Amino acid sequence: MSDVVRTQDLWKIYPDGTRALKGAEITVGRGDFLGVMGPSGSGKSTLLHLIGGLDRPTRGEVFLFGKRISTMDEDDLAEFRKGRVAYIFQFYYLLEDFTVLENLILIGEMIGVKEAEKKARRILDFLRLSHRLKHKPHQLSGGEQQRVAIGRALISDPLLILADEPTGNLDMEEGIRIFELFKNLNQTKGITFVVATHNPELRRFFHRVVNLRDGEVVGID
Ligand SMILES: Nc1ncnc2c1ncn2[C@@H]1O[C@H](COP(=O)(O)OP(=O)(O)OP(=O)(O)O)[C@@H](O)[C@H]1O
Ligand SMILES: [Mg+2]
Repeated sequence: MSDVVRTQDLWKIYPDGTRALKGAEITVGRGDFLGVMGPSGSGKSTLLHLIGGLDRPTRGEVFLFGKRISTMDEDDLAEFRKGRVAYIFQFYYLLEDFTVLENLILIGEMIGVKEAEKKARRILDFLRLSHRLKHKPHQLSGGEQQRVAIGRALISDPLLILADEPTGNLDMEEGIRIFELFKNLNQTKGITFVVATHNPELRRFFHRVVNLRDGEVVGID
C-alpha cells in the first residue's frame, strides 16, 4: 500500500526570494501521528501547505496517497483532496455569522455529505459540544472554537488531517486536551495526522517528529 504522503527534493522559494524549503524529504505512513517541529520561520507551515496542495512547490514532488499532486490542475486537485484531506489551523476560520451546528452542516452539504445534519450532531456530541449547537463562534472559548474546527474537518471523513499550530492560541491544558482528542481519532478511526507545532511540551504525543531548521529537515526522531 502506498504511503499517505511522500515528498521528494521539495523546494519552495517565495516570489521575494525567501528560500522557505530546501530539498525537504519526508514520508508519512498510514496511521502515523507525525509532528513537524522547528523554530518560527523554519518552514513548517510551508511544508504543510505543499503537502496538502494549498500551494505549489518551486521544485520537487509531492505524492499524496501515491498520486503525484504537484502537476495536477486546480480542479482535479480539489476533487482529489475531497474526503481525503482536511485542515485545522491556529486561527479557526469558522463562519462567524453561523452557529456551531451550521458551521458543520454547511461544509458537509458543500462537499456532498449525506444526512449532513445528523452527522454534524453526532460529531459535535463526540466533541462535547452538544450544549453549544446554537451558539455563534464568538460566544465560545478558544478551545471550543478549535473543537468546532475539528468537527468541520471530521465531517468529510478525512484519511489525513493536517494541523498547523492547532493549539497556538490555547493554554497548555486546553492544548493537551486537543492533542488527546487527535490521538483518540488517530487510534479509533485510523486517521493519519501531520501536526506542526513549536511547543516542545507536545513532542511526547507524536509517533515520529520531523525536525526542520531553516527550510531543511535536520533529523527525524
Ligand atoms: N508568502 C510568503 N512570501 C515570502 N516569504 C514567506 C511567505 N510565507 C512564508 N515566508 C517565509 O518563509 C519562511 C518559512 O515560513 P513558514 O511560515 O513556513 O515558517 P513556520 O515554521 O511555519 O513559522 P511559524 O512557527 O512562525 O509559523 C519564513 O522565512 C517566512 O518568512
Ligand atoms: Mg507556521
